[in-house]
Amino acid sequence: TYEKAWLVASMLLIVGFIATITYGAVGPGIAMIDDDGGSINPDDINDHEKFSEPGVTHVGGNEYEVAVVAQAWAYMPSEIEVPANSEVTFYVTSRDVTHSFTVVGTNMNTMVIPGQVSQMTVEFDESGEYGILCNEYCGEYHHTMEGKLNVV
Ligand code: CUA
Repeated sequence: TYEKAWLVASMLLIVGFIATITYGAVGPGIAMIDDDGGSINPDDINDHEKFSEPGVTHVGGNEYEVAVVAQAWAYMPSEIEVPANSEVTFYVTSRDVTHSFTVVGTNMNTMVIPGQVSQMTVEFDESGEYGILCNEYCGEYHHTMEGKLNVV
């Protein structure tokens, strides 16, 4: 009967929605934990142990730390490279206004607020190239603020 067909169709839709949501939450080979990274005075960035020389640090095993400084209209470093099958903790802060650190095609997306450190731990299972961009309006050249993340 038609009733049965509609019932099956609606069940399939529900399963489809759940699958879509699950995929969006997990992303392509990326799992993440959001954390509160603490506070920092933007004037102290140049002397800070993590942020004075932003970049990738191997902390042992498959664990890496990446310090990123956002400022209008660039990220430092602009290009980040980490190995596949790694667990990477990002620490991101801003030197001036509110930005974001958004990795395109993943659910990795955090606001970057001056005075605060955004912290996220991400597992990269597979290699890939990801664009990084800012999705918080931060002035005239907001649309040019971008970076690159290579998982090799
Ligand atoms: Cu930085 Cu928009």
